[in-house]
Parts: sequence; structure tokens; C-alpha cells
Amino acid sequence: MLCTFSLILALTGLCRSALISKSHEGDDPLLQYVVNNSLREHPVLTKLRLRTMEDARNVMMVASEQAQLMANLAKLIEANKTIEIGLYTGYNALSLALVVPENGRVVACEINEDYVKIGKPFFAEAGVENKIDIRLKPAVETLDELLSAGEAGMYDFVFIDADKKNYETYYEKSLQLVRKGGIVAIDNVLWGGRVINPAEDDLSSQAIDKLNKKLHKDERIDLSMLTVGDGLTLAIKR
Ligand SMILES: C[S@@+](CC[C@H](N)C(=O)[O-])C[C@H]1O[C@@H](n2cnc3c(N)ncnc32)[C@H](O)[C@@H]1O
Ligand SMILES: *[C@@H]1O[C@H](CO)[C@@H](O)[C@H](O)[C@H]1NC(C)=O
Ligand SMILES: *[C@@H]1O[C@H](CO)[C@@H](O)[C@H](O)[C@H]1NC(C)=O
Repeated sequence: MLCTFSLILALTGLCRSALISKSHEGDDPLLQYVVNNSLREHPVLTKLRLRTMEDARNVMMVASEQAQLMANLAKLIEANKTIEIGLYTGYNALSLALVVPENGRVVACEINEDYVKIGKPFFAEAGVENKIDIRLKPAVETLDELLSAGEAGMYDFVFIDADKKNYETYYEKSLQLVRKGGIVAIDNVLWGGRVINPAEDDLSSQAIDKLNKKLHKDERIDLSMLTVGDGLTLAIKR
């Protein structure tokens, strides 16, 4: 499918967004085909997605097909306790809450209350408000609180999707919190392609690239780096 012309574009970086774009950007016919033929979006998730599209920072929202993949993985491993690091308006947290059992949890880390206010009514509408435990403070503090409460090894699934400079810290703490066979899913591992030869002043790209290389050698996990969304690494605790 890739012609020489698009390869040249890819080399200059112009083609990357089309190769790894998000479903809601809707600019890639093949990705549109994937979404058209596999997305099963809960009606309240659809409403939340459309509401989030009205927000100025909506590029931050997780891709729908990626959220569905993670919900399927959570279901597959019978996840009960989960953590969302970077809630934003809560699309992925809601998607997880819909698949964990009635006494299951999504511990949701966020620092911006405005985003929480957008999501909350949709959690209630879907009937899963009680499963989403919102912690409005820096995520590192919340993870430390969980560890201090003796919850190491008690979680099944963690999604890391907040500030990139803290990614390595989030990964280390998440790995402590998940059980053997638990999954730490890390978003934006391709960072729009900028992880290849990051610029000297591009600290986010450097941090992600460094973590990608660390995970490749990390004997504590099995891993897969997927090209879904903006790149998703699944780290499965050994
Ligand atoms: C990419 S968005 C998350 C998208 C979300 N996972 C979804 O399902 O659409 C990142 C979020 O992390 C939040 N954030 C940034 N720094 C944070 C921190 N130190 N602790 C907790 N949340 C943080 C931002 O306010 C933002 O809402
Ligand atoms: C996807 O579905 C939309 C809405 O039905 C349609 O307009 C579009 O042509 C479809 N695209 C593909 C590639 O299937
Ligand atoms: C699920 O997590 C809840 C706490 O959120 C706990 O009370 C319950 O025992 C857990 N269930 C299983 C099957 O681990």
C-alpha cells in the first residue's frame, strides 16, 4: 500500500500522523475501516467522546479502538483492581469500569478538576460511578499512598497516560502495584514518531525513548510494543 512517495514523506516525518493516527482524527481510511468493523462502543462512551470533542485539549483523549483493546485485555485477565494514571475526561476509565466486576475499582489519578467535572456525570449515567475512585492530586502521590497502604501486588491492570517526564516513575511504581500476570499499559510510546532521534531540547521524547529502551531489556516483564493509537506498550509482569 505504501508507495515510494509516501515513504519519502515518512522520512520527512509528514506521513507519520497518517500511519499512527487516532481513530477520532479520522484521516486514515484503513484505520476508519478497522473502527467501522470492530468498535463496539457503549452508548455512554459515545456520549462522553462527543462531549470531549468540545474540549480544546481533546487530542489527549485515548483512541476508542485502543480503549476497547485495553478493556478486552482487562476482561481476559479478569481484572478487578485497576489504575488510570491521567484521567482527563475519563473515556478509558469509564471503559475499564464497564468491564470490572461490581466490587472492582478504577483508581483514577488526575490533577485538573475541570476535566473530572466533564467526565463525572457520564460515569453516573453508565451506573459505574461507585467503581471510579477519583484522586485529585499528582499521580505519584496517589501511587505512593497505595503502596504505603500495603497494596503492592494487588492490582491487575494499570494504564499510564499522564505527564511524560514522570513515565519511568509511574512504570516502577505500577510494576510494584500489579500482581504476577498483571499488565502495565503505557501510552504514547511512539510520541508522534518523535522518539526516533529526539531533539536535544525535547525532554518528553527523550524520556519516552529512554523508557522504551529500558523496557526492552527489563527481565521483570514480557512485553509488546503495539502501533495502535500513538503507540502502546504492554508490560506483563513475570
Ligand atoms: C493524555 S491525558 C489522559 C487521557 C485519558 N487517559 C483518556 O482516557 O482519555 C493526560 C492527563 O494527565 C493529567 N496529568 C498531567 N500531569 C499529571 C500528574 N502529575 N498527576 C495526575 N494527572 C496528571 C492531565 O491533566 C491530563 O488530563
Ligand atoms: C466508515 O463508516 C462511515 C460511516 O458509515 C462511512 O462514511 C465510511 O465510508 C466508512 N469507511 C470505511 C473505510 O469503511
Ligand atoms: C475486588 O476488589 C475489591 C476491592 O475493590 C475487593 O473487595 C474484592 O475482594 C476483589 N475481588 C477479587 C475477586 O479479587
